[in-house]
Amino acid sequence: PNPERDRLLQAYEWTAKFYHFLLKNTEHGKAAMDYLRSRGFNDKVIDQFQIGFAPDRWDTLVQFLTKRSFDLHEMEKGGLLTKRHDSEEDYLDRFRGRVMFPISDRNGRIIAFAGRILGEGQPKYLNSPESKLFNKSRILYNLHQAKPSIRKLRQIVLFEGYGDVISAWEAGVQNGVATMGTSLTESHAALMKTMADEIVICYDGDRAGQAAAMKTIPLLESISLNVRISVLNDGLDPDEFIQKYGADRFNRQIIDGAVSTTKFKLIYLKKNHILLEEDGKIAYTKEVLPIIAALASSTEREVYLRELASELQLSFESLKQDCNEIRQSMQKNM
Ligand code: GTP
Ligand code: MN
Ligand code: MN
Ligand code: MN
Ligand code: MN
Repeated sequence: PNPERDRLLQAYEWTAKFYHFLLKNTEHGKAAMDYLRSRGFNDKVIDQFQIGFAPDRWDTLVQFLTKRSFDLHEMEKGGLLTKRHDSEEDYLDRFRGRVMFPISDRNGRIIAFAGRILGEGQPKYLNSPESKLFNKSRILYNLHQAKPSIRKLRQIVLFEGYGDVISAWEAGVQNGVATMGTSLTESHAALMKTMADEIVICYDGDRAGQAAAMKTIPLLESISLNVRISVLNDGLDPDEFIQKYGADRFNRQIIDGAVSTTKFKLIYLKKNHILLEEDGKIAYTKEVLPIIAALASSTEREVYLRELASELQLSFESLKQDCNEIRQSMQKNM
């Protein structure tokens, strides 16, 4: 038994309910509600994810917690309040003027918040600090709600952001989780491995998102998870894609249409080269042949070599010959 931990869990649970109430039922919450609606979040999903609002005042939560006899020093250590610079005893709300996304552990107990500023401003998201309850490198947003769908499909869709998880849920993809704005860690990967056989990486379509996907592939493959990757264009993130093109197209093109890791690497590396020029063709070929040569199955190698040949208007035979030479030298070096 750990009474301090239990009190903090209780405080997080009540605070989430309080912020959710303020969002839905008070004048304070109106602008935030308008903001959420403008992003396409409906009432059902606002309830499902217990989204809330922290008013732009210094002591809304201080008063709420005081009335319920919580120890404010304990609440400050637990990340709900901050201390005034100029005082030892005065506490202030940590989250002010933010849309609040509760973060739960895998059993559904709220252990942290992510607070998004309304509109533009810095920082865009403010998270709870790491605490006795909250360790970013182990937590996956929405895992508790996604579990049944994950177990059924043996698949997890991995997103970058909270909004992506929520919009995907609305669009019928209920096996989605996200990291807390950090890269995926080994313990995240190990945790996913206990529930699923396949991970679909569905990161933002901008350069940073696609680079993060490239980095995540080896981590997941090293523990024998099957990996496919969603290809988003025009720098859109999954949430923006759904708002723009709708749920059906998201399911078909982005989830069902997620590509193999080899295909993704070919697409990713292509962006660095101008394939209309001889130099570009040759440089691109030099980058991708080792990737194809490393594939264990000769059928797989043939599939990608044929695609490459037709795309670059080169003969399959010459690509295959180069590929075999690379493969031989790889095997010698092993
Ligand atoms: P929206 O604008 O609300 O749709 O956010 P987003 O999720 O699309 O944000 P973005 O693609 O810029 O970043 C992806 C994730 O990184 C976010 O969901 C956060 O988890 C995290 N992140 C982004 N900006 C910040 C920040 O300013 N502070 C922190 N702590 N995390 C951030
Ligand atoms: Mn919607
Ligand atoms: Mn991004
Ligand atoms: Mn994004
Ligand atoms: Mn977004």
